Amino acid sequence: MHFCSVLASLVICMCEQECRVVSYISIAGFQVDRVDLKAETLLEVPGYSNPVQFGVLTSFAYPLEEGLGEIIVATTRIETMLGDTAIAVHSQDERYKHLHGKYAVHPFNGRKLEIICADDLVKATFGTGAVKITPAHDSKDFKVGKQHNLDFINIFTDDGNINENGGPQFEGMPRFTARAAVIDALKEKGLYRGMENNDMELGRCSRTNDIVEPMIKPQWFVNCNTMAKAALDAVKSKEIEIIPPQYEQDWYRWLENIRDWCISRQLWWGHRVPAWYVTLEDDKEKDMGSYIDHWIIARNKSDAVLEAKQRYPKKKYQLDQDPDVLDTWFSAGLFPLTVLGWPDNTADLSTFYPTSVLETGLDILFFWVARMVMMGMLLHGDVPFRKIYLHPIIRDAHGRKMSKSLGNVIDPIDVINGITLEGLQKKLEHGNLDQGELEKAKEGQKKDFPDGIPECGTDALRFALISYTSQSDKINLDIKRVHGYRQWCNKLWNAIRFAMVKLGDQYTPPATLAVHSMPPICKWILSVLSKAVGKTVSSLEAYKFSDATSSIYFWWQYQLCDVFIEAIKPYFNGSQEFESARCASRDTLWACLDTGLRLLHPLMPYITEELWQRLPQPKEACRKDSIMISEYPSAVQEWANDEVENEMEIVLDAVSKLRSLLPPTDIHLRRPCFVLCRNLEVAATVGCYQAQIATLASVSSLEILTEDDPTPPDCATNIVNKDLAVYLQLRRALNTEAEHEKLRKKREEVQKQYDTLSQKMSASGYREKAPQSKQDDDMKKLATLLEELEIISEAESKLDAKN
Ligand SMILES: *[C@@H]1O[C@H](CO)[C@@H](O)[C@H](O)[C@H]1NC(C)=O
Ligand SMILES: *[C@@H]1O[C@H](CO)[C@@H](O)[C@H](O)[C@H]1NC(C)=O
Repeated sequence: MHFCSVLASLVICMCEQECRVVSYISIAGFQVDRVDLKAETLLEVPGYSNPVQFGVLTSFAYPLEEGLGEIIVATTRIETMLGDTAIAVHSQDERYKHLHGKYAVHPFNGRKLEIICADDLVKATFGTGAVKITPAHDSKDFKVGKQHNLDFINIFTDDGNINENGGPQFEGMPRFTARAAVIDALKEKGLYRGMENNDMELGRCSRTNDIVEPMIKPQWFVNCNTMAKAALDAVKSKEIEIIPPQYEQDWYRWLENIRDWCISRQLWWGHRVPAWYVTLEDDKEKDMGSYIDHWIIARNKSDAVLEAKQRYPKKKYQLDQDPDVLDTWFSAGLFPLTVLGWPDNTADLSTFYPTSVLETGLDILFFWVARMVMMGMLLHGDVPFRKIYLHPIIRDAHGRKMSKSLGNVIDPIDVINGITLEGLQKKLEHGNLDQGELEKAKEGQKKDFPDGIPECGTDALRFALISYTSQSDKINLDIKRVHGYRQWCNKLWNAIRFAMVKLGDQYTPPATLAVHSMPPICKWILSVLSKAVGKTVSSLEAYKFSDATSSIYFWWQYQLCDVFIEAIKPYFNGSQEFESARCASRDTLWACLDTGLRLLHPLMPYITEELWQRLPQPKEACRKDSIMISEYPSAVQEWANDEVENEMEIVLDAVSKLRSLLPPTDIHLRRPCFVLCRNLEVAATVGCYQAQIATLASVSSLEILTEDDPTPPDCATNIVNKDLAVYLQLRRALNTEAEHEKLRKKREEVQKQYDTLSQKMSASGYREKAPQSKQDDDMKKLATLLEELEIISEAESKLDAKN
């Protein structure tokens, strides 16, 4: 650890309404809001009753010694001229070549300001080509000051007033009052040269809105070279894995260019800096830090005392700990160690360190994650975690950063519990926005949430956020999507309610499922469930959480609720003939709900626990503790059934084609339907699923036709594939025109595909270059399209024949 002076930023903080508490902290760049000003702008500044002028460039002349005339400089912060210690020009600027190494004289204190060359800083074409240098209050000037060994004169007190270095004329003035006073004083001396609008950027503290002022403050630093190298190697050697891997580059870039870490912060609380200052009885300067070599760095006070005794054996002294505290990130960097009891050698520490996964926002990869890795490796000899999962940053639905003044910040509690627009606006009023910002923020809320935020619950919010994680590095949070998942939670309730009725009070789940003897619909839902489980587990293992949400949602919604639960309803009509199908459906339904809830549990913990507790339990599990400690599902090989899945694909396609034939005006009226099968295999499949198709398509009856059968009259038709067409008897509701139009559109679509494909196949080089298997596929596809075209023509002529 070493001690040196650097430029820190100064911020004046306002606390409470009446009492003005002033404090200074060194603030990081991300706590500063950059404001662009295009021209003169008057801004409210905390602590000033009148607005302060910004966005102007003020010019004034410094007189030169030896009667050389004057040199004109310009600045946006005229008050800082009180701390100027040099004037910089470009070395090649002909106007000033004769002045290199000469001096200007400060009009208020007579200080000599050397004319120096700083080609990095000065552009000969900008302004007068001469730049005033204030090393103690500007970061660029600070560098120049170091290079040219200039004086660093601090002109501000910690309260933001001018101190004694500013001279008796200005001492004690608030900095922006001095802004006007300096101009007046320059005018009096005839040195003021004017003011013009200036395009500039202003830094404001994001918490207090005060204007940030660079100041020099002594700080403690840590040399990170060794630690950074270790942390860099840990990722390179895969001791630590960063997910998603594209952020590895950021890790390397930062650690390869590591700089000394400023670890002290002028904050109110924190870990105290472990540095003690020795004030000797015969020291001339008694202020803490006056002599840099009087500092002692130690683990604790007793160690510091021992060290002091050794260093100053015969002297009288006083020992004081630096009141400053460590950077929050320094303390946070110790987190993986301290939560396990470090520095004590606890059982937890030896058992759980290193931990497995750290999950955090990608914006603090350096601030926090890298610090934990560096400190864990240095202080405990090993990485703190094996994997780092970085999640995106949440923004509003329009992709804007959430900011208080825009009023687009969403409190998760408001999403969970719901809130009215009035409630949202009231919250703003209790914040610390000024009047202008408040109005703007209220406007924003009114636009985004005209009806407030509906109650979404914890589960829906969690599920939505997880499902969003596939969106690059930003999440544009749309409450509508969260609310959609809330409605989905209701559907889960309904599914369980349905199941409880169908299972009955006496139901006991079997130890194993007799899949082989089950109806195809049961085989199908179990097969797709096993697939969904496999996909979910592999997605979770690969940290693709969004994929896990979609495979679970897809299965629950589109396969279990929309298809299976609907398709088994007829089995429960009390008929004796369905007894075995009913039994199989019950067992399958139970297995689906039990597995489905366990699968969903980590993504929706509350509702799944509640519903799972209501499900009947198998005999051997006498106690049902919690879904939290139940086994997580894994794919069941015996359930996989590609044949049934392929059949169901055709069945569901036929169902959706039939449903699309329903006239929108009376969708609930059940009508007879016909399925034309052009080969025996397809006819057999459709035969197997006849009842399911009828139920899912909401038709009154289903008849299977072959090519030899006459076309049923008054039907709307739809082609499923070349072997399968569906007919729905609409009778008077049949709109021949519309049917023609539909067929025409379908023919156009197929014709277009046919044309594109045949063009591709007849293109030069196709026969020579395309692989044989591809050519065979294309050939088959072409034949299929041709058949479809024939079927369409057939359907069209039949439609005509009837008129
Ligand atoms: C101070 O730290 C040293 C290790 O450097 C340790 O041996 C000693 O016990 C500590 N003293 C106190 C009072 O904690
Ligand atoms: C149940 O449905 C089947 C098939 O639709 C039907 O044959 C049977 O008559 C129905 N039974 C009762 C009791 O409704």
